Amino acid sequence: MKTIGLVLVSFAALAQAVPQAGGFGSSTMLRFGCSQIVIDRIDPLVNPDQLPSPHMHQVVGGDMFNVTIPSADIGNMAKCTTCSYSDDFSNYWTANLYFKARNGSYKRVPQIPNRLLFGDQFTTKTTGGFVVYYVSDGKNMVTAFKPGFRMLTGDANQRAKIGSGKKSQSCFRCYNGPNFGGDNAAPCADAKLDTEELPKGQCQGIRSNVLYPTCWDGVNLDSPDHKSHVAYPSNGPATFTGFSTGGKCPSTHPVKIPQIMLEIVWDTRQFNNKAEWPADGSQPFVLSTGDKTGYGQHGDYVFGWKDNSLQKAMDSGAGCMGASCGGLKTQANAPAADCKVPVRYPENFDGWIDTLPGMTE
Ligand SMILES: *[C@@H]1O[C@H](CO)[C@@H](O)[C@H](O)[C@H]1NC(C)=O
Ligand SMILES: *[C@@H]1O[C@H](CO)[C@@H](O)[C@H](O)[C@H]1NC(C)=O
Repeated sequence: MKTIGLVLVSFAALAQAVPQAGGFGSSTMLRFGCSQIVIDRIDPLVNPDQLPSPHMHQVVGGDMFNVTIPSADIGNMAKCTTCSYSDDFSNYWTANLYFKARNGSYKRVPQIPNRLLFGDQFTTKTTGGFVVYYVSDGKNMVTAFKPGFRMLTGDANQRAKIGSGKKSQSCFRCYNGPNFGGDNAAPCADAKLDTEELPKGQCQGIRSNVLYPTCWDGVNLDSPDHKSHVAYPSNGPATFTGFSTGGKCPSTHPVKIPQIMLEIVWDTRQFNNKAEWPADGSQPFVLSTGDKTGYGQHGDYVFGWKDNSLQKAMDSGAGCMGASCGGLKTQANAPAADCKVPVRYPENFDGWIDTLPGMTE
């Protein structure tokens, strides 16, 4: 492996993530960076119309993001997006990460661009934000989401391991080599590298992967808990095997949808002074939900690809990889980073703060 370049090692490692595909060549995997569009205390999926929502989020994607997002076809209403695929006006959001110093003050941990893969420069130069994946086993194997579709994965209130011997659809990896090394194995697939809890030791950076369900009931664009219209396959990834595109869908949710995965990299280097870590030896990072465990990491999604661009991409087969796929339109970093929405609930989220936004401690 040593003689192979970094990109090829990564490629091979990712290939292992989709074993059902019979080789990486036949799968479709969009992987693209999106700059941050806003950090704000609103949540148009779980808390529509509520200003402020209970906790802070980091958001990427199209400029229809607001206190509520209409169920209409936002892919044809939005004017700009922070993603490199410029027809993707969807919104994706997750919790932020904060460092809690020994004196009790908090500071937000910045997100940094992801590593180079498939020659994709955009993703290595995003402003904040994170990487989005859409994966399927190959040509014509998934049904793309419909306008108005939205879903939630994870539970902001979760604070303990779910089930026994099973892993959730969220994992963290401690980057502890130089230059954020240690990231060449597929996410949530390595029991030694990946944890469901926030890493306990010091890291260069912490990577968070959030994997959404891959089965849909074929009828409902949303559901009261934003989860029950979708499901994970009956045979995975209740186990921690990374992508679950090959899993069989349950009869209640027979329609296979693309697997969306978010990949966030938090730069923790400035927070590695042990004198500032808790005296009891525990780790100092906390999600914006007040969660020190990491089990409450969650991801929200509101679909917003223009017309049938996502379906076309997912159906285009082996030529669709990374940030270059068949006829999908792309944009440069500058216009993507210029796409912004106003902060609807202005508050201090980047200086030292006494309590987490929306929390009592
Ligand atoms: C955002 O939502 C607010 C309140 O619902 C509304 O007044 C405002 O017009 C919306 N902004 C945009 C750009 O749609
Ligand atoms: C708490 O500690 C941090 C890190 O040393 C420091 O920057 C911050 O100003 C302190 N906050 C207070 C309220 O003293």
